[in-house]
Amino acid sequence: MTTTPPLGGPDTIPIAPGKIPALGHALAFRKDPINFLTSLSAIGELVKVYLGPVQTYAVTSPRVVYQLLVTEAAHFENGRIFDKMRGFFGNGLITSNGAFHRRQRRLIQPAFSQKNITTYTEVMRREIGELVASWQEGTVVDIQAATDDLSLRIGVATLFKTELGTSAKETVKECLPVVLRGLLVRTLLPDVVFKLPIPGIQRLNDAERRLRAAIGEIIRTYRADGADHEDILSALLAARDDETGEGMSDAEVLDEVVSLVLAATETNSSVLASFFYRLAEHPEIADRVSAEIDGVLGGRQVQYEDLTKFKHTLNALSEVLRLDMPVDMFMRRATEEVVIGETRLPAGSEFIFSIPALHRNPDVYPDPLQFDPDRWIRRPARDLPRGSYIPFGTGGRICVGNAFAWAELTVVATTVLAKWRLTVAPGAKPKRVHQASTHFTSLPMALEAR
Ligand code: HEM
Repeated sequence: MTTTPPLGGPDTIPIAPGKIPALGHALAFRKDPINFLTSLSAIGELVKVYLGPVQTYAVTSPRVVYQLLVTEAAHFENGRIFDKMRGFFGNGLITSNGAFHRRQRRLIQPAFSQKNITTYTEVMRREIGELVASWQEGTVVDIQAATDDLSLRIGVATLFKTELGTSAKETVKECLPVVLRGLLVRTLLPDVVFKLPIPGIQRLNDAERRLRAAIGEIIRTYRADGADHEDILSALLAARDDETGEGMSDAEVLDEVVSLVLAATETNSSVLASFFYRLAEHPEIADRVSAEIDGVLGGRQVQYEDLTKFKHTLNALSEVLRLDMPVDMFMRRATEEVVIGETRLPAGSEFIFSIPALHRNPDVYPDPLQFDPDRWIRRPARDLPRGSYIPFGTGGRICVGNAFAWAELTVVATTVLAKWRLTVAPGAKPKRVHQASTHFTSLPMALEAR
């Protein structure tokens, strides 16, 4: 006769090593977040970790992450880091929970329909076209700074495509980089710090206030104008709930635009910079990708219909999204008692999971640290165990900008490589920093016309 083994409780879960966990874990995390988070899978599927004084459970296996994000997702909300963001983000998609989040997803999803992405692709092509046309043979460009600026321009131009609110748009472009740089500080430091007269803190508060005020002004201008400008903001203003027929208030739209613009910019620019860096490290792959682009485009500009035709480029981008997924860690909090893995845990338990760590799992990815785009030919993502490859998350909170991101990555990658070969500038030693997203401090690359 078989008996079901009893479920464990919090006491059965191993704790990550460290003499004084509250200090040791935080230091190990700060020193090398991916290494620390990746090392936890050797200890167990669920591991107790102290991030400062706060005890969390690190979920390390694809199987249990899938429970958290999909099968048991109804019993979780976003958790601590997101609570801290709410002060500035408001209640947009990134921070909202429960029924309100589900309603907002339904209202926002149509802004990313295939038809709309086709229109946004034209904006992306124009922005990268202008950048590439300004480059000069034989010069060195900081590709991280260039992709940061490009993704910001694309984000703003797809949200607000018209000439309406031009000066407010300039304020958004000016303030957003300051807000993005301050995001980690905002989530780590206690709220009281943001009331102190420290110049850096005041600059951040000021940028956040001006950014929200500028977006609010653009929303009012669009409402008064009433036309469909074929951009994200027009789609948000036109969205109506199928069940109630209601749309969003201006305050709700403002929170959603803040969430979108913050989520859309640094993630894309980090992935793009990593893509050009990885190809520079692997010239034979770069040559193959460039030859494929020549074959598909034959000198013309990329169109929406082309985006799925670049097999090698897409495999290289998939591999960058595996190895260089730019956000180290995500969180959830149980809203009621849950069974996660084989353990019963109380309401209020906080969980962390690391997508880059899942993407380095040697059981799933042979030679996991090797940049090898052909692994996606040998074993496509659909054949991998659930939860093993989730650069855009999975379940009800999967990235709402997933198709937008793929369009931007592909348009930018193919437009650049159709004309230029990029190599790391002689003597440069690019370093990555782990902030709100992981990115290069600078990435000087030499431009050679193809
Ligand atoms: C390569 C670029 C990107 C990556 C790797 C990425 C990754 C992710 C991931 C992993 C999540 C899920 C977070 C979780 O489960 O807690 C997420 C959510 C989200 N992303 Fe992205 N993202 C990217 C680009 C974008 C873009 C371009 C937009 C907007 C146009 C965007 C908007 C959002 C929003 C609003 C959410 C929250 C969704 C929700 O909770 O319902 N992201 N993203």
